[in-house]
Amino acid sequence: MHQSPQPHAYPKIAKLTVVSRNGFGRDEQSSGAANSEQSKILYVTSEMADFVKVGGLGDVSSALPRALRGYHDVRVLLPGYREVLARHKELSVVARLPAESGLPACDLGRLEMPDGLVVYVILCPELYDRDGSPYGDASGVDWPDNDVRFARLGLAAAELTGGLGDLSWRPDLLHLNDWPSALAAAFLNWRGISTPTILTIHNLAYQGLFGAARLPALGIPEASFQIDGVEFYGKLSFLKAGIYYASHVTTVSSTYAQEITTPELGCGLDGLLRVRSSQGRLTGILNGIDETWGPHGLPTSQHPVGPFVNRDWAGKPSNAEHVRQAFGLAVSRGPLFAVVSRLVHQKGIDLTIQATETILREGGQLVITGRGEARFEMALQELAVRHPGNVGVRIGFEEGEARQMFAGSDFLLMPSRFEPCGLSQMYAQSFGTLPVASKTGGLADTVEDGVTGFLFEETSLAEMLGALYRAVDIYASPQKLKTMRRAAMQRRFGWDRSARQYCGLYGRAVANATG
Ligand code: ADP
Ligand code: GLC
Repeated sequence: MHQSPQPHAYPKIAKLTVVSRNGFGRDEQSSGAANSEQSKILYVTSEMADFVKVGGLGDVSSALPRALRGYHDVRVLLPGYREVLARHKELSVVARLPAESGLPACDLGRLEMPDGLVVYVILCPELYDRDGSPYGDASGVDWPDNDVRFARLGLAAAELTGGLGDLSWRPDLLHLNDWPSALAAAFLNWRGISTPTILTIHNLAYQGLFGAARLPALGIPEASFQIDGVEFYGKLSFLKAGIYYASHVTTVSSTYAQEITTPELGCGLDGLLRVRSSQGRLTGILNGIDETWGPHGLPTSQHPVGPFVNRDWAGKPSNAEHVRQAFGLAVSRGPLFAVVSRLVHQKGIDLTIQATETILREGGQLVITGRGEARFEMALQELAVRHPGNVGVRIGFEEGEARQMFAGSDFLLMPSRFEPCGLSQMYAQSFGTLPVASKTGGLADTVEDGVTGFLFEETSLAEMLGALYRAVDIYASPQKLKTMRRAAMQRRFGWDRSARQYCGLYGRAVANATG
């Protein structure tokens, strides 16, 4: 199954300045923050907001490794997408990984972020240097070779761990995220490498399912295609492989950790997850948010002079006015509702569309930004055409604008059908914007009904409208509104608490593996 290294061309990488090709095998230890008490952690991810993000995983992958750096020598492994290659000219090649089965050979780049965080980049232009998102083309269609693209990511993580590629920095633990990196745990197992692995499930609904015929091309042993292995209802599942082979599984809130062990939200994996839970190998650790961002959409240290006043409940009307203007809405003293979301079924966008008439009848207005399924994008654009001056829709995503919407709205709508954690409701609360959200997953864990927002039990239009009416009532009582905004802004959602919990888990996993 192993092949010798293949000659590898870089057709589109000409713009990249490779500053060093002779760093192979150099002592990476000296460049990190390592000391003898720290473990070396490789955080493997398919998104990182510094370069490219599709949703919350990108935010988490940018923030968590940094929050952990005070405790451990944490480095990130990421595919060399076009955005990564374009943004960093100072990339050095530190290792070469051979081809295996249908997975091409690749170089391993290393770059150092301005704050010193080391990011290893898989340089394989034929797989990653494309327009579009990490997962699909500009029209949202999945890349047809996603199995190869992400098996390559998983294999690279396993190869580095096993010492292949001659990189002297060898992780003591792999932290994997979602199906795109999940296969790393399996590759380690098949190679007899006992380094512990933690797999974090950010969303169980995305599983990385492919036909069984792909096993040989992906370097997956046929013998592993069984219930105790990578098989899932006759298909190959990257996520199942990760859950099965990882030393420990986490997910991003306590409530979701419990929900995924039920048939309702277990996506067919609830049986295995119940086993992991009963073994003490499934934990919920709530995500955090970067609390240093100000209402301008910039770090507080970089506030420009502009319409946004500071993070203060009293500034809300002026911030709201700016958002209204940006979306072409009429001047209004009514409540401003916002949606900042991937436009997918999970997020209950259809319910928001159905609730719009009620919002407007109650004197409210609505601003929406995001991208996703074409049917929702079109329906939202039609909604804006039907209600000029009261509904503003921006298909696309601009980080600064999204932050301004979190800061400048009165209420954030999140009628999610399920929500592993959700970051938007935390960003919103930190600016005194009250979430109107379903009581599921991380929403249930981060929004206190009637205190910092409004929760509804069942994700249905009737229940959502009930919560909306409660929100509108509060808006009409300035004193109560002020009390709730203050309560929301006083909640702390920083990364420190989560980072400490991950550290505890890392410590136990490394101790189990060595002891
Ligand atoms: P999810 O990860 O399921 O999309 P979260 O609430 O955890 O939901 O995270 C959403 C994050 O992604 C927020 O930072 C939000 O501003 C951002 N976001 C929302 N929609 C988009 C989009 N279309 N493209 C990129 N980022 C988005
Ligand atoms: C996923 C989930 C979301 C979570 C995010 C980061 O995209 O849908 O709920 O906040 O990952 O963990």
